[in-house]
Amino acid sequence: MRIAIYPGTFDPLTNGHLDIIERVCKLGISDRLIIAVRENLRKSPLLSLVERLALIYKLTSDFDQVEVDICTGLLVEYARSKYASMIIRGLRNGMDFNYEMEMAVINQSLAPDIETLFIPSKAENIYVSSSAVKEITKLGGSAGSMAPAAVIEYLKTKL
Ligand code: COA
Repeated sequence: MRIAIYPGTFDPLTNGHLDIIERVCKLGISDRLIIAVRENLRKSPLLSLVERLALIYKLTSDFDQVEVDICTGLLVEYARSKYASMIIRGLRNGMDFNYEMEMAVINQSLAPDIETLFIPSKAENIYVSSSAVKEITKLGGSAGSMAPAAVIEYLKTKL
């Protein structure tokens, strides 16, 4: 069985994240895709891990191969514990590339048997970010082109 992990903070899930999930499912490179929700030590999240997990669960329930989980500790150790052979990450621009490349190389040195695969963002998601979705919603604007309606409705109740 081919198992892939798509890790992220997902605070909250955006259309950019959903697009990556859909495209990985369509590619047929994995039998199970585990969306691994975790904390990023460089960020202070608005939503709790459970809130983020619940939103992702609701929005990915149509995908048979997708599972949602909370992940702690070293990413590669988590991937090993799930018998995963792939880590999926999306790339929007050169800044993402530099950050992701560094993580991928460190992860490769820690676990040479686990490959990181990069999926380029679609043009319409290049400027999408979880921070932008939160900021626009907080200031009363519409972030409907950046995140699913269920995410925005939930954020409105939080902000
Ligand atoms: N389209 C649009 N936006 C996207 C996107 C896409 N395809 N992919 C990511 N983004 C955005 C997100 O919305 C988010 O925006 P924000 O910065 O405004 O919050 C940002 O890009 C990245 O967020 P996300 O993908 O949710 O997660 P992350 O980059 O915070 O997650 C981890 C990073 C979890 C993968 C990383 O912290 C990690 O691997 N930690 C493990 C620790 C470890 O093992 N360390 C050792 C190796 S270094």
